[in-house]
Amino acid sequence: MSTVLVARDGAIATVTVNRPEKLNALDHDTIGALTAAFVELAADSTVGAIVLTGAGEKACIAGADIVGLSRQGVLDGKRNAQHGQRLTLAIEATGKPVLAAINGFALGGGLEMALACDLRYASPNAKLGLPEVSLGIIPGYGGTQRLPRLLGVGKALELVMTGDPIPAEEALRIGLVNGVFPQAELLTATKAVAQKILSRGRTAVGLAKQAVRRGIHLPIVEGLELEADLFGMISSTDEMREGMRAFLEKRKPNWQ
Ligand code: COA
Repeated sequence: MSTVLVARDGAIATVTVNRPEKLNALDHDTIGALTAAFVELAADSTVGAIVLTGAGEKACIAGADIVGLSRQGVLDGKRNAQHGQRLTLAIEATGKPVLAAINGFALGGGLEMALACDLRYASPNAKLGLPEVSLGIIPGYGGTQRLPRLLGVGKALELVMTGDPIPAEEALRIGLVNGVFPQAELLTATKAVAQKILSRGRTAVGLAKQAVRRGIHLPIVEGLELEADLFGMISSTDEMREGMRAFLEKRKPNWQ
């Protein structure tokens, strides 16, 4: 049985990490298979949005596989980090909405994957954290970089330096997740959010995401320039003309 499953529900693809007996821990091959899956889904024009989750009811992803990490030396340590970073970069590079359905533990590399997604939804039993310092290592798949950009430096340092996981409700309070749904409804509710995004102008959603994702790394004046350029780009599309015409004609847009 493959450790990465991809299923389709209309334009929504669901990627499931499938090692429930190891709480979906990410070994080297699983990381490679996940990266390949996200690259493939990015290129598939029939896929509009992607949902990431884990198999079973206990864990989304309990981190990188500690068995593999325990054997690493300096050179393969760096290579391991870069292998995981390629996965998180592939998630960000899809150009499509990517939503994490966090159905249990999202620790270490699991939380780092979720941080590369655009939106995160959790079930009440979820526990999220970067426990690496408890193992004598540091986060290596982007956690030290994406967490402070999402939460601010103070909260990120608290999670990184204590290594303590936090429950779903606390994650919601600090903005680490966008919502909490009962476990039995989590996947359906996450797909419903994806479906709502898909009902909007697809090019507009893609360019708006690009403006935020690229703009966050820029000084504000350059970010505003980027926004204006993308606004100009969307103004040349049939999608914009249909969106505006539908409003004026008091009907729903009929996107092509
Ligand atoms: N890497 C490798 N194996 C892992 C793992 C990981 N990150 N997380 C869990 N597992 C394995 C356990 O070794 C165990 O395997 P076994 O049955 O062959 O002994 C199995 O998954 C079930 O985990 P277990 O620890 O028995 O479950 P639990 O409910 O008692 O505890 C956790 C759950 C998540 C608290 C605990 O598994 C844990 O702390 N995992 C490591 C989390 C972590 O530090 N992640 C960051 C890694 S960099």
